Amino acid sequence: MTQYDFTGRTVLITGAARGFGACAAARFFEAGANLVLGDLNEELLAQALEPYRDHGDRVRGISGDVGEEATARKLVELANEAHGGLDLAVNNAGIAHGQLRLEDIEDSDATDVVRVDLLGVFYAMKHQVPAMRQRHEATGRDCAIVNVASAAGLMGAPMLSVYAAAKHGVVGLTRSAALENARRGIRINAVCPAFARTDMLDAALRDSKHGPEEAYRRLVAGVPMQRVGEVDEVVQAIVWACDEANSFFTGQTIAIDGGLTAF
Ligand SMILES: NC(=O)c1ccc[n+]([C@@H]2O[C@H](COP(=O)([O-])OP(=O)(O)OC[C@H]3O[C@@H](n4cnc5c(N)ncnc54)[C@H](O)[C@@H]3O)[C@@H](O)[C@H]2O)c1
Repeated sequence: MTQYDFTGRTVLITGAARGFGACAAARFFEAGANLVLGDLNEELLAQALEPYRDHGDRVRGISGDVGEEATARKLVELANEAHGGLDLAVNNAGIAHGQLRLEDIEDSDATDVVRVDLLGVFYAMKHQVPAMRQRHEATGRDCAIVNVASAAGLMGAPMLSVYAAAKHGVVGLTRSAALENARRGIRINAVCPAFARTDMLDAALRDSKHGPEEAYRRLVAGVPMQRVGEVDEVVQAIVWACDEANSFFTGQTIAIDGGLTAF
């Protein structure tokens, strides 16, 4: 991914301690960006920041729950204080509920998923957009936001109904905010992965009533490429969507799903 150059640009990434978020942090760092990393898990975040210990001027992080508006505000404040502004954001933090029929999902689990996955992206953009407008006015350069939705944001997902509803909501927020900001120097898109090899997928396979191996077999049977995705295959699309060369690209959802949503 060395063709990208984000030197002097600041990218904020949520859920950055592992999975897509940690990989995106590494790719943006390699391409020269300054990083502001957030995660709920303080200990995991400290571990994720460790490789950047000698680059404290370029990489900063704070823990916090994206489902609380204060976290969104603090992350943007950190970008302003540490790096003089915010150019790019990857709103990636998310959770899933257990695989259950709609009527069996506990109210508290449904509320958590909507709060983190949907309101988390709303709070994030609520604070990122004004900061990016300022940045655009100051630099004349385009800013970009990528929200991590899901293939479950584009199609029904049996046993994951509330998660699917929250991710459909992320797609709605993305399109609407993209339209509001189309002439204000901020491009806003969503990536929609299906089944990529992260801790979130491992946990879902582990918890399956069929057992992890049978669950994996059933899962990939429905994917045209007959495999799950690798983390970097999703992160490629995130970085690409942030690249300034894609200056006419906004309001879109990119499915990275081995062909799943092509049916
Ligand atoms: N892995 C997949 O197959 C897959 C598929 C579709 C969509 N997604 C989406 O991709 C995103 C990242 O998923 P992943 O697979 O890398 O998951 P992951 O569980 O490996 O990593 C998620 C990270 O987000 C953090 N996080 C969780 N809740 C948080 C909160 N309330 N506030 C701040 N940070 C929080 C976790 O601590 C963790 O570090 C999520 O939005 C998920 O819904 C994943």
